[in-house]
Amino acid sequence: MSQHVPVIAIDGPSGVGKGTLAQFLTDETGFHLLDSGAIYRALAFGAVKNALALEDVAALVNLATTLPVEFVSCGIFYEGEDITSQVRTEEIAGVASTIAVIPEVRSALMARQKAFAILPGLVADGRDMGTVVFPDADLKLFLTASAEVRAERRVKQLKSKGVDANIEQITQDIKARDDRDHNRKAAPLRPAEDAIVIDTSHLGIEDVCKKARTLVKERVLST
Ligand code: DC
Repeated sequence: MSQHVPVIAIDGPSGVGKGTLAQFLTDETGFHLLDSGAIYRALAFGAVKNALALEDVAALVNLATTLPVEFVSCGIFYEGEDITSQVRTEEIAGVASTIAVIPEVRSALMARQKAFAILPGLVADGRDMGTVVFPDADLKLFLTASAEVRAERRVKQLKSKGVDANIEQITQDIKARDDRDHNRKAAPLRPAEDAIVIDTSHLGIEDVCKKARTLVKERVLST
């Protein structure tokens, strides 16, 4: 009989602290990490690089099935090129959220995401980890925060890297992306029925991590 692979699903909109929490729980548990947004971003990068039309479903699906991307501890590599920082731009995020509405693209990326679930376990970060990709996850966390709070965090993050950022523009971009993620027909962004929702608007990331660590100990590591 195959052994149960524990999965912790972390979902929520961009800029809500999912990545930080996922990394924290990965360090705590020794589980593998799936940053599913990075897969959508890598596909977006490939689409831009190959000048694919964003409505050309067949071409996008073809690229998604053969996506020449590798995730290693030091970064994300596309055909051997380090694209770790290139996939973090607002432009690529916008393209990723545009192509993520296409059901055929989502299906084409499914097997690649599921393949991350190997022993000793997985922390999966995304939008539909608890609802679609890992519906049987042992623990489902859904983080939320207002668009304004997330935009402020993003501006701070960019400024700390010496990048000038316009708060109004970033808030607008975040809201547009939220709209697309929430309203798409395929796997819209919403908490799974059995998810634990954590509003991080007024919580420091340390508090969110502490809360999640307790839940992981109770519901994942104790079984
Ligand atoms: O988490 P992120 O910002 O890196 O994700 C980039 C885009 O990819 C996001 O706008 C929506 C899409 N995405 C998705 O549709 N499903 C996922 N599981 C992860 C990301």
